[in-house]
This record gives sequence, C-alpha cells and structure tokens, in this order.
Amino acid sequence: MKRVMVLTGGGDCPGLNAVIRAIVKRAAQEKDWEVIGCIESFNGVLREPTEIVVLDEKTVAGIHVQGGTIIGTVNKGGPFAWPVKDNDGNWTTVDRSDEMIRKLGYLGIDAVINIGGDGSQRISQKLFQKGLNIIGVPKTIDNDLSATDFTFGFQTAVQIATEAVDKLVTTAASHNRVFILEVMGRDAGWIASHAAIAGGADVCLIPEIPYDIEKVVEKVNSRYHKGRGFCNIVVAEGAAPKGGHTTGEDMHEIGNEHIRLGGIGEKLKIDLVKAGVEADVRVTVLGHLQRGGIPMAYDRVLATEFGVKAFEMVLDGQFGHMVAYRHPKIIAVPFEEAITHPKLVKPKGDIVRTAKGIGIEFGD
Ligand code: F6P
Repeated sequence: MKRVMVLTGGGDCPGLNAVIRAIVKRAAQEKDWEVIGCIESFNGVLREPTEIVVLDEKTVAGIHVQGGTIIGTVNKGGPFAWPVKDNDGNWTTVDRSDEMIRKLGYLGIDAVINIGGDGSQRISQKLFQKGLNIIGVPKTIDNDLSATDFTFGFQTAVQIATEAVDKLVTTAASHNRVFILEVMGRDAGWIASHAAIAGGADVCLIPEIPYDIEKVVEKVNSRYHKGRGFCNIVVAEGAAPKGGHTTGEDMHEIGNEHIRLGGIGEKLKIDLVKAGVEADVRVTVLGHLQRGGIPMAYDRVLATEFGVKAFEMVLDGQFGHMVAYRHPKIIAVPFEEAITHPKLVKPKGDIVRTAKGIGIEFGD
C-alpha cells in the first residue's frame, strides 16, 4: 500500500474539506493508495505521540458542504520554526525539518499534499529542496496568490462581504449615516473591491492604493444634501492612509511572521470626523465571518478540481509543484512561481477602472 499524507495549514477557508474529499475519492479509484490526514498542519507529525488519521471514503462523505477543515489547521510553527522554551524560559524556535522528513519515512509516507497559502507553500518548497515528495494546493480567501487566477474560498468571502454591504446600505439610507465596513485583505484588496462593486459602495480603500483622507471626506460630503444622504465605505484591513501605516497589533506569537491586522475601520471613522464629516459614522468589522460556513458552489467545484489534480500529480510524480487554475485549465506550476510575488490589485487595472467607472472613490 502507498500512502499520501494530506494537511491543511494557515487560516481556514471555505472549500478545504472539498479538497480533502476529492483527494480521498480520487485515491480510492487506485486500489493501492491510502490517504492519511495530518492533524493541524505538520504539527500532527511533529508531536509525540503522532496525530495522524486514516481518511477513507466514509470519513469524507458529505464534507464538501462543510466550512473549516476536518483535520484542523494552524498558522504558526511548523517544521522550520517549531516553538520551544529555552533554558531561561524564553520562547524560541528550532528547525525540526530533517527530523520530520525522517519520521515521514518511518510512517511509510510516499508523498505529501500541503493545502495552504503562500506561507505554507514556502514551507513546501523548502521541504521539496530537502528531498520530500510534496505537492501544494493553494488556499486563501484573499485570492492573492499570483500563480492561480482564483483560489477557492474567495467567492464565498466576496458573497458574505457583499451581503454585509447590502444590509448596511439599507440601514445607512434609513438613518442618513456613513457606514464603514472593514473586510479581510492583508496585502490585497480583492475582497474589498469586489464587494464594493457588487454591493454598490461609494468608497473602497485597499492596501494597494494609499488613500488621501481629504479625497474620502470630499466623496462622503458629496453624498449629502442639507444633512440628508448616506455613504457606504468598504475598507480592507490592510489599507493605510498616504504616508501612514497599517493598523493592527503585534501579538508576539512565536513562529507567526504576521502582525494581526484590524482596526482601520475605527481609525478611519476618527479621521473622518476630525476632518469635518458631520454625519453619524458607524463601523462594522466583518472579520472571520468571511472565512466560516458553507462554501458556495463555485468554491466547492474549484476545490474539487484542485483535489483531483493534486492526487493525479502524486501519481505522475510531479513533485515540487502546486496546483493552479489558469482559465480554462487546472495546471501544475513550480513552487518558485507560486510563491515569488503576491497577486495584488493593480491601481490601473480592470477592477479599479470598473469601480471608478461607476463612481467608487479609492482616495487616490
Ligand atoms: O490570509 C487570509 C486572512 O483572512 C487575511 O485576510 C487575514 O489577515 C488573516 O487571514 C487573518 O488570519 P487569522 O485571524 O487566522 O490570524
């Protein structure tokens, strides 16, 4: 029997379970393959006792409809940065990658499928360079991986954000208010720009376009006549004013390279009021609601395509590659191509041109 180990890393994302199910179902068509799930990314193999589970067709029945991941996930630690306490009681990290590769050998693992975002695929690349038979499946609601046209989970996140805009529009109109909706998007404004267009927002602020508060104030005020009117603003968590910086908190989490973003909505509210906006300004932070729950049909289909392709890449020995969607094909791309640069919203690209074409203000 040959064994492929599957794991999910980084933030969860609607569609992860559909990928897992597709891998298991496709593998079941080959009589000599067994699928093993590693609990919480690579941690399941690194822990003592080892936490791995056999995934068969019974285990994965119906899970394509469920959000989250049945094998759990983490967004810190991993084989190259395993947190440990040193002799003085301070946390530090150690490289356990060689030990982990040896352990995978003892466990009879022939190949690994790592489902995760850019951070996870950087780990995949390093493990591949050390000789591990590994394949990547891209995952992020932010849709900011350059190798693939779309990642599963993005459409679901956009739908959730759009429904939030829809709801805020009616309450904003009823109360003559300014509503700021803070959505996810660490480096890229894909969710914000799509939700702003789909929901009919008036202002959209994204990480790729630092905003001038005066331009935003001008747009807000233009929406009011004799105190009546309303304005809806969608802001990505990674947006920042011109000459300013992102808003968030460094949680000092060992093994986590990111600061935790959040709070730009509140900051914007304060700045708008300071800059003379007289209307009542309210803030809604959508947060993790964008990542949870049932994946939309589009994301289930894309996730299933990725899962089937990933297992077929294992069969073909296409290690060192990540699955990608380049319309109209599902293809394999080398890890280097997948992780070198993020896919950002182009300030002069189609999505911004479209949004500006219907009067959405970006503050530039
Ligand atoms: O990468 C996807 C994402 O949703 C980002 O937009 C966000 O900054 C991050 O995950 C938050 O992740 P967590 O709350 O799990 O730290």
